Amino acid sequence: MPFEADEAQAVYRAIRERRDMRHFAGGEVAPELLRRLLEAAHHAPSVGFMQPWRFLRVRDAALRAQLHALVEQERVRTAQALGEREDAFMRLKVEGLLEAAELIAVTLADGREQHVFGRRTLPQMDLASAACAIQNLWLAARVEGLGMGWVSLFDPAQVAALLGLPAGAEPIALLCLGPVHGFYDEPMLQRERWAQRAPLASMVFDDRWGAPSTLFADAPNEKETP
Ligand SMILES: Cc1cc2nc3c(=O)[nH]c(=O)nc-3n(C[C@H](O)[C@H](O)[C@H](O)COP(=O)(O)O)c2cc1C
Repeated sequence: MPFEADEAQAVYRAIRERRDMRHFAGGEVAPELLRRLLEAAHHAPSVGFMQPWRFLRVRDAALRAQLHALVEQERVRTAQALGEREDAFMRLKVEGLLEAAELIAVTLADGREQHVFGRRTLPQMDLASAACAIQNLWLAARVEGLGMGWVSLFDPAQVAALLGLPAGAEPIALLCLGPVHGFYDEPMLQRERWAQRAPLASMVFDDRWGAPSTLFADAPNEKETP
């Protein structure tokens, strides 16, 4: 059975209004609320039900500062790798590690090679599964009025060493989570003119790569996705 109309609208609204946040208002996240958010993450789908996600809550301020230093180091290296967009990149705010109420590292668990179901030809489905968990957390945070930002600007080996990960485990995200003063009304990278959302119709094909989908043939207004 479908959800009631207002419930369905709420789900679509959460999807539309979820934002990657990099400006935070400090404060805190109550333990009960954080447990609820992590529960939402833990209800994500996963390949072969392997549940490859692990969450490390960073509580030690010195550790948080060390992680921030690693992100800053990678931010500078990323800028250098961008060539002519270096200055524009350096002007972007790409993380809120020191201001967010909570910092949560998400890692892929060790021992993932034992999970073959759905991964024999596509081993990266473990990462896809963990990304589903992060998206659940993102949406749940949004409906609770909390901002979340996914930071992936770091050297995974250095983060793994700082967090004491076992061999085979891999960090994939440093999640900044907490109260915000307000949500951006469009992706920050769009607002800063770094990138634009592509029209959905340019990304949907019928049968063969590149063949425009008939889904959008009679719906000119659908060609642009704001
Ligand atoms: C896998 C992944 C990694 C990301 N890493 C970063 C990051 O390191 N720094 C950052 O500022 N944003 C990061 N983002 C956020 C994207 O920039 C953001 O999702 C995109 O600009 C669209 O904005 P929206 O999430 O508000 O819709 C990441 C997003 C994803 C899905």
